[in-house]
Amino acid sequence: MTVTVTPLSAALGARIEGIDLRQTVTGAALAALRRAFRDHQVVCLPGQKISAANQIAFCALFGAADSDYKVSAQRTETDYRKGVMLVSNVRKNGVPIGNLPDGDIQFHSDGCHRDRPYLATTLYAIRVPRGGGDTLFANLTAAYDALDADTKARLDGCRIHNSYVLDATSRDEVPRPGAVLHEATHPLVLTHPDTGRKALYLNRLMSRWIVGLPREEGAPLLDQLLDHVERPEFIYAHKWTPGDFLMWDNRCVNHARTDFPSDQVRLLRRYTISESAA
Ligand code: OGA
Ligand code: MN
Repeated sequence: MTVTVTPLSAALGARIEGIDLRQTVTGAALAALRRAFRDHQVVCLPGQKISAANQIAFCALFGAADSDYKVSAQRTETDYRKGVMLVSNVRKNGVPIGNLPDGDIQFHSDGCHRDRPYLATTLYAIRVPRGGGDTLFANLTAAYDALDADTKARLDGCRIHNSYVLDATSRDEVPRPGAVLHEATHPLVLTHPDTGRKALYLNRLMSRWIVGLPREEGAPLLDQLLDHVERPEFIYAHKWTPGDFLMWDNRCVNHARTDFPSDQVRLLRRYTISESAA
């Protein structure tokens, strides 16, 4: 079958058809997939019917499949073997079977609160609400390119301090009494290892302050940049269909979620991809 790649929006994202993820992706299809991921930053492979094992095998093409904070004693779903994370509002005995159960989530980049952020995230849609619960993707490369030269010069060499507590969906929930606070700093302008392109690596949910600027200068600049990276021209809104498989590049893409009715089931399976140990 031939592989076709169709842009999903002017901002970022591509739809890939002609690849069945129940089989190992090799040869020309794998090359097309890698190229589309590099060029479009988010890829969507619709119409998939995959197991957790298929999803892990896919992740292994790009790095190491992982998920390390999701298993809790109450959760006995078989998908929890190998640390899979379900993103779901389904509850058993009142306890969510997965993470991030309800409502909207502010823009963020998975793992930016860790010293080693996740290279990419994969989400596979099993059940989705009739309306809402869209995932929004923002192109941080385009956001960097759109900055004026003065701002680029000010940001040169700065770092960003990020912090997060598990399952927070808004920056106001961090820190949370009694919850473990995860913190890390990273270059504010991140040069992508594969493309060499610069991305404005900061986000509303997790980024707290700019390291390297006096507070009175850094705080208003951070506010301004958080608005900048959410400008509509950088964003693609994905409306899910069951069977959609998405992968996005956390090094140059932020993502967020829109609200959805709590009485409608939303169930997605998630694995993150980390760089393989060298
Ligand atoms: C995630 C996430 C968004 C969504 O799984 O990291 O942010 O649409 N999910 O559920
Ligand atoms: Mn996320």
